[in-house]
Amino acid sequence: MTVPFVDLQAQYRAIKREVDEAIARVVESAAFILGPEVEAFEAAFADYLGARFCVGVNNGTAAIQLAVMACGIGAGDEVIVPANTFFATAEAVSTAGATPVFVDADPLSYTIDIGKIEAAITERTRAIIPVHLYGQPADLDPIFEIAARHKLSVIEDAAQAHGTLYKGRRVGTLGRANCFSFYPGKNLGAYGEGGAVVTDDADVARRVRLLRDHGSEQKYQHDIIGYNFRLEGMQGAVLNVKLKYLDGWNDLRRAHAARYHELLSDANNGGGGNALTLPQELPYARHIYHLYVVQTEARDALQKHLSAAGIQTGIHYPVPIHLQPAYRSLGYRQGDFPAAERQAARVLSLPMFPELTDEQIARVAESVRSFAGSQLSAAHV
Ligand SMILES: Cc1ncc(COP(=O)(O)O)c(C=O)c1O
Repeated sequence: MTVPFVDLQAQYRAIKREVDEAIARVVESAAFILGPEVEAFEAAFADYLGARFCVGVNNGTAAIQLAVMACGIGAGDEVIVPANTFFATAEAVSTAGATPVFVDADPLSYTIDIGKIEAAITERTRAIIPVHLYGQPADLDPIFEIAARHKLSVIEDAAQAHGTLYKGRRVGTLGRANCFSFYPGKNLGAYGEGGAVVTDDADVARRVRLLRDHGSEQKYQHDIIGYNFRLEGMQGAVLNVKLKYLDGWNDLRRAHAARYHELLSDANNGGGGNALTLPQELPYARHIYHLYVVQTEARDALQKHLSAAGIQTGIHYPVPIHLQPAYRSLGYRQGDFPAAERQAARVLSLPMFPELTDEQIARVAESVRSFAGSQLSAAHV
């Protein structure tokens, strides 16, 4: 039995009729770019989240760039970003013209270390971008407190957190401008690229709408210089079908995470040696397990062992952003963010998707346990 990392074909089979009908509607109406399917999805997603506005864009990276720009942030400004996130969080700050300033990770939640934010604030800082990494929310209340004290915007990167709750509230609605990705493998994924900015601020929503479509609200009248960052009709139609299933799929992911936890807990002895550290749902969180990420010193060997057994895994992410060649000019060094660096060297994402079967979970767990057992007993010899 092989176990894929994600199985988008299995999901398609389950909703094929609805998806095929939705795609046919777009083709028949030729509303390929923005249009009624995108508008319907924007309204439905805003409603699902409990936000006033959702503006669809062509991917999550564009969503972050436009959110930063719509908050009036650009050249000469600094934006605080965790060092342990997907590259796009920082890249979008840079393409908006501002400079990312990195902060270390919290080793328990894997989200930004709230105790280290204030030391990174300068008179140029304009915003903090907490990332709800792997589907676990960042600890937002202290972040809002710091932001209020220093008059900063909070821009949530909720690219991995469709349906995540923080103290009972949906993330991606709490900052001034909030960003989602609908990359196909996300908990809510399009059939191609997609993203959105979600906000309660009418002015931010209007600016994102202008920026995504050549600075234009009225055809051939361009009020500002913008971009072509529009969401396609096909993606709106597919996302609208899939949104109805999101909560159910998230529940399944949570059940799979609980099962992994049960089956792996005796390999989880606090992180010494080759033992596994399992992900934890923090008391303030409803984690939606976009990724189920374990940690071990023997990460590379474990990945090889699983691969030989036909089990696909991923590493999210192997190089923290402050050590990426693209940001060499910012002058960061190895050792600047020890928690993010340790995480990058140790994390391994196990297969996680709603359609994962009990047999597949058991197979992954058995393979992980056989590795942990052999490695640990070897260590005792
Ligand atoms: C945390 C995070 N931020 C931003 C992005 C960028 O989204 P996209 O790939 O849709 O541009 C992603 C997606 O991969 C992500 O995981």
